[in-house]
Amino acid sequence: MWMNSTQWSGEHSFMAVLPVLTYPDSRLTGVSKPVERFDSALRDFIMDLEETMRVGPGSVGIAAPQVGNLHRIVIVDVSEKKGVSHHGKLILVNPEIVVRQGSLVGREGCLSVPDFTGNVSRAERIRFRARDMNGAIIDIQCEGYEARAVQHEIDHLDGLLFLDRLSSRRTDLFPRKKKS
Ligand code: NI
Repeated sequence: MWMNSTQWSGEHSFMAVLPVLTYPDSRLTGVSKPVERFDSALRDFIMDLEETMRVGPGSVGIAAPQVGNLHRIVIVDVSEKKGVSHHGKLILVNPEIVVRQGSLVGREGCLSVPDFTGNVSRAERIRFRARDMNGAIIDIQCEGYEARAVQHEIDHLDGLLFLDRLSSRRTDLFPRKKKS
């Protein structure tokens, strides 16, 4: 599903869970465009995106291209994760990382790669700028798990999955345990 500007307009009062694209869908490799209009269609889409994130078990983030909408929008919320510092729910439009410090390897999963997790090296601390859904400027420094999640989601906007960040698929990729 590629949402175009026509589909963005109109009345929309019910939240919806959107279908999530999975690897190797070629739309996941596209580069997303900046959002230019901060209107009610954007806010409706963001509500659907959040609803879609919430149904993924243990999900801490989602990016618009994962539902086939190639615009620079991500949501990150690691507040449910025990013992990590966080800024609550982050809705980030046109996010940009402006400072990166240190590096740490950690385990990542992704709604678009449901059967695997992987060990990925990310900056330990970052500072990023973005807009909120009303167009107001956000400027935040974060670290650790939250910084990892923000970097993972912003990668989606540039067509990158955690699979593209592994040093080696042989040693850094792990089958997810099946829940039955
Ligand atoms: Ni992901």
